[in-house]
Amino acid sequence: MATTDLDTLERDLLSQVEAASDEAALETVRVAALGKKGSVSELLKTLGAMTPDERKARGPLINGLRDRVQGALAGRREALAEAALEARLAAERIDVTLPLREAPDARGRIHPISQVMEEITAIFADMGFSVAEGPDIETDELNFTALNFPPGHPAREMHDTFFLAPDAQGKRKVLRTHTSPVQIRTMRSKAPPIRVIIPGRTYRHDSDQTHTPMFHQCEGLVIDKAANIANLKWVLEEFCRAFFEVEAVKMRFRPSFFPFTEPSAEVDIQCSRKGGEIRFGEGTDWLEILGCGMVHPNVLRNCGLDPDEVQGFAFGVGLDRIAMLKYGMPDLRPFFEADVRWLDHYGFRPLDVPSLVAGLTA
Ligand code: PHE
Repeated sequence: MATTDLDTLERDLLSQVEAASDEAALETVRVAALGKKGSVSELLKTLGAMTPDERKARGPLINGLRDRVQGALAGRREALAEAALEARLAAERIDVTLPLREAPDARGRIHPISQVMEEITAIFADMGFSVAEGPDIETDELNFTALNFPPGHPAREMHDTFFLAPDAQGKRKVLRTHTSPVQIRTMRSKAPPIRVIIPGRTYRHDSDQTHTPMFHQCEGLVIDKAANIANLKWVLEEFCRAFFEVEAVKMRFRPSFFPFTEPSAEVDIQCSRKGGEIRFGEGTDWLEILGCGMVHPNVLRNCGLDPDEVQGFAFGVGLDRIAMLKYGMPDLRPFFEADVRWLDHYGFRPLDVPSLVAGLTA
């Protein structure tokens, strides 16, 4: 091959190297030049057949060509790798100053009723109460009769009961009108001393700004040999102080009537209402928050307990009511409308679990 041909080959190869736009194209060029059967390799093979003089003259030319092609290949490979890295860095560029998108556990909200149930459970657990539960669909016997509402007693009418269709025996179950039937279930299934709270759903045929057909109560029941009204007052005062997160609350016990307690009382707590805002632990107004009393001897007897041996007290708090009071929600109905905007506003962060140590509403 003449020297000019070598020059042409070299120019050709070098421009192919320059034109290779990625690793694969560059490799094709390399194989065509320096592979086993590549154009430069073929030239190198011809050296073997030459006379020493010829080889002396041609050797450096061909070797020089091979070195320059190799050098160009290496240079191009490096340039391509660099360009690829640049492109990747540009594509993966992130702006670390952008605000974070909130993860689901930060955006989700706990419903105020669930929150209040957690708060109450934390408060009463601290006083040694455990939690009991019962079914929403209840027998007439447990919702009324065993609680000392005799059949046909007018107190039954006050409950605006939802009845289910009669069964084969003609008995109609009810949607429980209060959590009190779980008092009976508890006293029939476990021996005193008893110290339980019973949060849950309750139902009455009623609907306006502060009443919904389904609402929530929390029952409390203490049975032992000596539980008395003084204990009841202390427990309720402790509860109100802790729940409303104030130093002291004044409470007022008004005589009342429930068939299953004797004596019975309704409890008001002191508050002030300035500028439409309710505050506890101050002021001259009163707000009713719960019903309570000493468990009626007939109820104890209905559960196989001897009123001469044991006694106790019970109370029932309207959870929706105290949630509205504590968190300043004027209307009860949105509680159950599942409007995410309402929940965003009034709901609680899922990881802020209420505890007496960390604070109920951290
Ligand atoms: N069950 C009563 C109600 O729903 C409240 C209550 C419970 C009263 C326990 C006294 C004792 O109105």
